[in-house]
Amino acid sequence: MDNIADLLINWYQKNKRDLPWRKTNNSYYIWISEIMLQQTRVETVKEYYKKFINRLPTLKDLANINEDELLKLWEGLGYYSRVKNMQKTAIILTNQEKEQLPDTEKELLSLPGIGKYTAGAILSIAYNKPCVAIDGNVYRILGRYYGIEDSISKNSTYQKYEAIIKSILPLNKYSDFTQSFMDLGSAICTPNSPKCVICPLNQQCFAKRENRQKEFPVKEKKKEKKIEERNVYILRYKDKIAIQKRNNQGLLASLYEFPNEENTCIETDIENKLIEKQINYYSVKNIGKSKHIFSHVIWYMQGYAIFLKKPLKNYCWVTKEEIINKYTLPSAFSYFTNLLLQNKI
Ligand code: ADE
Repeated sequence: MDNIADLLINWYQKNKRDLPWRKTNNSYYIWISEIMLQQTRVETVKEYYKKFINRLPTLKDLANINEDELLKLWEGLGYYSRVKNMQKTAIILTNQEKEQLPDTEKELLSLPGIGKYTAGAILSIAYNKPCVAIDGNVYRILGRYYGIEDSISKNSTYQKYEAIIKSILPLNKYSDFTQSFMDLGSAICTPNSPKCVICPLNQQCFAKRENRQKEFPVKEKKKEKKIEERNVYILRYKDKIAIQKRNNQGLLASLYEFPNEENTCIETDIENKLIEKQINYYSVKNIGKSKHIFSHVIWYMQGYAIFLKKPLKNYCWVTKEEIINKYTLPSAFSYFTNLLLQNKI
């Protein structure tokens, strides 16, 4: 009987997706794609990846680009610490006169933003080394195939999966092996409604046999996200809009935003507040609500456009064109950014 690795690789070689980062084994490019793909869908990443490597074809280019321009290249992808860590890593390697990522796990793990998953992906995909990249796809496929009852929320379970993978690694086909999990997990062994009938692993799969696909991989319930209600202010003065740079730590660090604050007041209080603070304005308009889900928090936002008679100090006053071309406003604010750019405010 065929073993699981042969089945996976045969299937992968016939069915692999044609993706831009599969046309290279340049470790710098593979690293970029893996970081982008960590929290973002493949379809979305394709264009970002092409734009990124066009603008920054070498590690040295990434080390030298200015932060605001770098964040702009990442605009819309979210989790901006990923790209900031990439730049830190590029600076470290460029200072050591390296043009590629290292090819050992120890060196990779010492670099900012590179954990076991990314190191495993770079080593196996770019360098074809006998390593593994354990992500949700691997947990799901192997969890179902072997019927592994340990919860993947426990740290010790990682080692169990790692040991299983090491015991089934196919000689010299490490790059295809890693990527076969990614493609099978996305096309067939999906979280909901897996297509077991056409799965290459269906003869031996524990979950399929027991009809328990939904139960694997075993994990604990997610923690409830914290809820925050925020007011977002689009301050207008003539053709300018007020934005500010967020602080360099924590949520959305170093990105630009519209002024906003925790919502402690009702709509009619806004004008009273402006009067109290002696801010001269023409009018205040309710511009609607928006919601954004982060990994640990949900923002419920209520927007107000405020048309001022004078610009306020301490903000960066910019035009719409500059918002499009120069500053990075995270997608948490995209409802409001779109209203502005569609001239609805
Ligand atoms: N998800 C994470 N890494 C990937 C890759 N290299 N190809 C396709 N999907 C992925």
